[in-house]
Formats: sequence, structure tokens, C-alpha cells
Amino acid sequence: MPAPTPMSIAEMDSALRRASYLPSEQAALVSHLAVRLGKPVLVEGPAGVGKTELAKALARALSRRLVRLQCYEGLDEAKALYEWNYRKQLLRIQARDEQAGWQEVEEDIFSAPFLLSRPLLAAISSQEPVVLLIDEIDKTDQEFEAMLLEVLSDFQISIPELGVIRASSTPIVILTSNNSRELTEALKRRCLYLWLDYPQLEHELQIVQMHAPELRQTVARRLVEVIAMVRELDLKKPPSIAESIDWARALLLLGAAEIDEATLRQTMAVIVKHRTDLAIVAERVGLELAAKQDTVEQDAADQGAAGQDAADQGAAGQGAAEQDDPQQQGPGRQVGGNQGTGAQVAGNRASAPGDVRAR
Ligand SMILES: Nc1ncnc2c1ncn2[C@@H]1O[C@H](COP(=O)(O)OP(=O)(O)OP(=O)(O)O)[C@@H](O)[C@H]1O
Ligand SMILES: [Mg+2]
Repeated sequence: MPAPTPMSIAEMDSALRRASYLPSEQAALVSHLAVRLGKPVLVEGPAGVGKTELAKALARALSRRLVRLQCYEGLDEAKALYEWNYRKQLLRIQARDEQAGWQEVEEDIFSAPFLLSRPLLAAISSQEPVVLLIDEIDKTDQEFEAMLLEVLSDFQISIPELGVIRASSTPIVILTSNNSRELTEALKRRCLYLWLDYPQLEHELQIVQMHAPELRQTVARRLVEVIAMVRELDLKKPPSIAESIDWARALLLLGAAEIDEATLRQTMAVIVKHRTDLAIVAERVGLELAAKQDTVEQDAADQGAAGQDAADQGAAGQGAAEQDDPQQQGPGRQVGGNQGTGAQVAGNRASAPGDVRAR
């Protein structure tokens, strides 16, 4: 049974979150408008930023069936709309009375039982409202786009032998594109537009934590920081959200407690997938992580040394006070007692680098 329609942007946002999709403000807004206005949405953006997942999440959020048309070069009407079941038609012709006239035969074999519904027709003719995902529309050609216009603007399909099939319920239509070619204005005009980009750091952190909740908070944060750093480089294929999630899961599996230069080198192939990119990331980000590691260790050492100084000063001060205090007797024993404090400070120093890394 379909879920109640979200009536505001906030409700749409919550519905998508419940369906395990953390939308950007714009994604929640456009999804809300698409549902309320009954308009298709064209979602564009780099690979792996959640274009396809948005359609899937909408289907889950609204408890609708997802009908998916995966586009590719050379996709034609027969695979997207419908085709006649020739074999079945032949069998029927053979099985029929030879005396039957052609018109009678034709009416028979070009009727609904001989029609094979492909995704677009399946979505239009569904009794229950569906979410129709037309994935990677940019892989098709302009003729295919032109054919789509009737479906997108009127939610109907004309079949010459049968007539016009109109949608009994308005589907929510999501078209995705990786921008590999410019889509026609005619298609764009019929759609709402949503540009999905690489998310902001905090947003990506939430997404990663949702997909890999067992990963330590500090590691997850470091992960999205490193990913942001990698995206700044001039790479053939910058890592997307999909790679961030994969990396988080890989780190979990390997039991990595932090992301240092060694961890990066070991797991780099999860986030960059071109040989030249691997070299660039290893050099630039690896160096940065190594430098950071040095700084952390130096800070830890400094903190330890500062602690030691403070302890020494404290001990000296106390010693001086003891000496200044003529009432105090047996300073030797007292100072000896203070050595315990010194040992404590030394103990703190030994644990300091670990503390700093954990922070
Ligand atoms: N906002 C989000 N909330 C939760 N998960 C997300 C979000 N965005 C992306 N993801 C996750 O990132 C991964 C990649 O998403 P998806 O496959 O939808 O990307 P895409 O943009 O369609 O990529 P491509 O262009 O390569 O097809 C999926 O595992 C998806 O669950
Ligand atoms: Mg996709």
C-alpha cells in the first residue's frame, strides 16, 4: 500500500532519511515539488553522488514499486516501450482456423495478450502508482529523447495497432544523466532540474556513518577530510560518495584505527582507480599525511616535555618553598616523596602520543 504523500519539504526530508537516503536541502525540495506537481526530475551530476539512489529511496519512502529503464547506446523503442510477441503471434496464426479472414486474425494477434510491456509501458499502465527511473539518459541518442517526450509530458504512449494508452496513475519520473552529452532543450523543459554534486564535509560524514556505523567517529571524519583533499587534486576520476563508503567498509574490515600514510598507501586503490591517479594521490596526499603524522608526534613530544618541565618546576618550587619554610623539617624525605609526582608526570608523557592520536 502506498505510504502517505509527504506534504512539505521537511516531511519529504524525513521520509527520505527513513528510507536511508540523506538528501541535501535541494534534493529534498526538488523531490517534494516533483511529487506535488507531478513533474519529472532530471538529476545531473558526477558519477557516484547518489542520483540513482535518490530514485530508489523515493520508491522506498513512498512505498511505490520502482520501474527502471537502464539506458545504453542503441536503446530503441522495442526495449524501452513495448514490442509484439512475434512467436506467440505465429503460434496463434498456426493454431487458428484456416478459414478465418485476415482482419479477424490481425485484430486478434495485435491485442494486449500479444504485447510485451517494456519499462516505460509497464510504468504507464501500472494500476498502482510507481517510481519510474530512466537511468543514464545521456547514453541514448536524440531520437530516443524525442520519443520520450510524449511519455514525460502527457504520461501516455501511442501504439498504432491499439491506440493511446494513458497512465491510470501519475508515476514519479526520475531521469539521471552523467552529463556525457548535452540533453535537448525540449526534454529539459519538461523536467524539474536537480544538480547533485560532491557533498559538503559534514553531509558526507553523515552518509559515511550511515553506511558504516561501526567505524570510529575520528576515523570517519579523517576519511572524509582525506577524500576532500583527494578531490582537490587534478585526477582523471575523483572519488565519489560511493568510494567514500567503500573505503569506510574496507577500513573497518582491516581494523584500521587511524588513517595515516601507511593506511592510505595500503587501501588507496579503493578510492582511486587510475594508475596515474594512484601515483598523484600517493605523492601529494601521502606526503601531507606523513607531515601531519610528524606534527602530531612532535606535538605529543612537546606536550610531554612541557609536562615534564611543569613537573620539574613544581618539584623545584616545592623544594624551594620547603627550603624557605623554616618550619619544615626533613626536606630530604619530602623531596623524596615528590619524586612520586615526577614519576607520574613521566607516566603521563609516555601515554601522551596515544592520547593525541585518539583525539
Ligand atoms: N545522500 C545520500 N544518502 C545516502 N547514501 C547515498 C547518498 N548519496 C549517495 N549515496 C550512496 O552512494 C552510492 C552511490 O550512489 P549512486 O549509485 O546513486 O550514484 P550515481 O550518482 O547514480 O552514480 P553513477 O553516475 O555512477 O550511476 C550508493 O551506495 C548510495 O547509497
Ligand atoms: Mg547511477
